[in-house]
Amino acid sequence: MNQATFVQTLQQTHVLLPPLTGYTDYPYRVVLASFHPGFLTTEMVHSSAVVRRNARTMLMLKRVEGPQANGVQVLGRNPEEMVAAAKFIVSEGFDFLDVNMGCTSRKVTRRGEGVALMRDEEHAARLISALVNAVDVPVTAKIRLGPTPSKQNYLSLCRRLQDAGVTAITIHGRTGDHKFAPLTNQSYITEAVADLQVPVIANGGISSGGIACTILHQTRCAAVMPGRYLIGNPWLVGEIHSAIQETPYQPPSFEERKEVCRRHFELLTSCYGCHGAAIRMRGIFSHYFPFIRNRAAFNRDVHLMEYAEFQRLLQTLDDSPWISTRETGQKTIHDGY
Ligand SMILES: Cc1cc2nc3c(=O)[nH]c(=O)nc-3n(C[C@H](O)[C@H](O)[C@H](O)COP(=O)(O)O)c2cc1C
Repeated sequence: MNQATFVQTLQQTHVLLPPLTGYTDYPYRVVLASFHPGFLTTEMVHSSAVVRRNARTMLMLKRVEGPQANGVQVLGRNPEEMVAAAKFIVSEGFDFLDVNMGCTSRKVTRRGEGVALMRDEEHAARLISALVNAVDVPVTAKIRLGPTPSKQNYLSLCRRLQDAGVTAITIHGRTGDHKFAPLTNQSYITEAVADLQVPVIANGGISSGGIACTILHQTRCAAVMPGRYLIGNPWLVGEIHSAIQETPYQPPSFEERKEVCRRHFELLTSCYGCHGAAIRMRGIFSHYFPFIRNRAAFNRDVHLMEYAEFQRLLQTLDDSPWISTRETGQKTIHDGY
């Protein structure tokens, strides 16, 4: 995929699906692909693990067939290693590369990677420039407002990345130490859109089609990137598309939720085996059923379940007495990312 096609697709679909460690693995990307997104992104992979052909990382780099553009998010700092990783990723048929400049994990920032790259704008730009010169697919970056509230340097970093040849920039509207604090306004996106020539993608707090539309209209950003609210909720893709196109949106029925969850579980099983699938499903299952009553108790039970218990639950779960008719509130997922 070249830069022009990437930008054109972004401007047509207005949605780019996020990297979510532990969630946007191959099985979930297969599920998401059936909801017709323009773009899919892997979980972040470390450049050194790609270069070493680490077995777990190779599993993350399975490409999903289909018309969507498939991207890989790469974490790292060393330009030679990032270039070597990028060349391998492109040789595997991926369509774009995203550079992680937002991860706040201490393990990552200690090495000067993730959001720590925002502290060193010159190096971040050198990294992008090395990648742009080495591969012929679009290179994007995912940044935050800054590493801390007192250093919100997103605009100057964006300018440098643009000069270095980045194709688009996703801005997660929080600083490194904000984790998942509520977002109060989107003025930083408006400011970046007005300042930059490259497309800006708004990220943070996109929980519904309505919110996605409001952000698109208010900020004039090229696209939005949902995050947490996509977990166990692939329907968000269609909800956002419907809101943008002003077409009616039909939320999934309980049976549809069960069907897609079952398919997800099968894909997890093929990929990780029965036990691996159960471990992953523990963190996903209840997101498929947000209307469940006594969610906290249900979650506790689910977190102890083994493969056979999930299989049974997927056969026996019905919409009474578990399901209340109204959504009980927002999901909260705090995994320390
Ligand atoms: C479980 C989880 C895993 C994440 N993994 C990544 C990742 O691998 N790379 C990345 O750039 N951001 C990652 N993020 C951040 C999201 O992509 C997104 O920027 C963030 O959740 C803000 O959007 P939201 O408020 O809609 O959740 C992760 C977030 C969560 C909750």
